[in-house]
Amino acid sequence: MATFLSKTSIFHTFSFSLPKSCTPIFPFNKTHSLSFSVRANKMEESEIKEDGEVGVSNTQKKIFVAGATGNTGKRIVEQLLAKGFSVKAGVRDIDKAKTVFSTNPALQIVKADVTDGSDKLAEAISDDSDALICATGFQRSWDPLAPWKVDYFGTVNLIEACRKRGIKRFILISSILVNGAAMGQLLNPAYIFLNVFGLVLVAKLQAENYIRKSGINYTIVRPGGLKNDPPSGNIIMDPEDTLSGGSISRDQVAEVAVEALNHTEASFKVVEIIASPDAPKRSFEELFGAIKQR
Ligand SMILES: NC(=O)c1ccc[n+]([C@@H]2O[C@H](COP(=O)([O-])OP(=O)(O)OC[C@H]3O[C@@H](n4cnc5c(N)ncnc54)[C@H](OP(=O)(O)O)[C@@H]3O)[C@@H](O)[C@H]2O)c1
Repeated sequence: MATFLSKTSIFHTFSFSLPKSCTPIFPFNKTHSLSFSVRANKMEESEIKEDGEVGVSNTQKKIFVAGATGNTGKRIVEQLLAKGFSVKAGVRDIDKAKTVFSTNPALQIVKADVTDGSDKLAEAISDDSDALICATGFQRSWDPLAPWKVDYFGTVNLIEACRKRGIKRFILISSILVNGAAMGQLLNPAYIFLNVFGLVLVAKLQAENYIRKSGINYTIVRPGGLKNDPPSGNIIMDPEDTLSGGSISRDQVAEVAVEALNHTEASFKVVEIIASPDAPKRSFEELFGAIKQR
């Protein structure tokens, strides 16, 4: 049974402790070719799903990262830059962002509060982003509706902004247990505890459902409890509604989000991820390839 731990993050409630022996993060390849399709569309899946596999240099692709100053968001930005992408970092607080990121010609910082509505977000995203990674998460406050404002309506706003801008690739960082009720996990302490905070898992599930029906090529990444520590094991990737505990380094979550851009096997999929020192090391082709589209 997962351990209940009250740390800085509410999601640590379902963290397992893992040994600290960690493998360094996987090598970056600045000339890695892009294999995702910026035009792929669920409605037209059979005709064009493979479109875009043309070995385009990452430097030609700009990725918008929402929640870029967050613990996972900043790692996503750093990994994208290291892999040669251009990045537009969407943040609530530009001054904070300037303290988080070093100056980099491939990095642009723009104000993007997801509660501001899709028109404003579409302005921030502009017409030069090829894909969007959403790593937002509500911050604890006295507002009981905060999870809904950020984790549901905020994500819906981002999806609608993508529609307005013709962006057809969306990576969403969600969470394991979002569908805990259907999984028979209603009594899982993590499920109960998290939903005490404004039903955040329910809000996230609704956001997932929205992107799944949007026609946009999505990858929904559902991590277990997040850790700031470096990776201490290999990634386990399972289909939706499978995992009810476990944890993973935010570095690995960022890596999965970025690698989803580079792998057509990740298209239109929901993946649940944790890490374990006992898990075999598998390539991202294998990991994403083993998950079925639903
Ligand atoms: N913590 C866990 O154990 C865990 C487990 C599974 C899944 N998750 C999910 O994984 C994701 C990343 O988690 P994390 O712990 O890395 O997140 P985090 O550090 O709390 O960062 C969340 C980010 O969302 C931003 N944000 C909040 N409200 C916003 C708004 N109205 N508009 C735009 N941005 C907004 C924050 O902006 P500021 O930087 O300005 O505050 C911050 O950058 C979240 O969706 C979280 O729910 C977390």
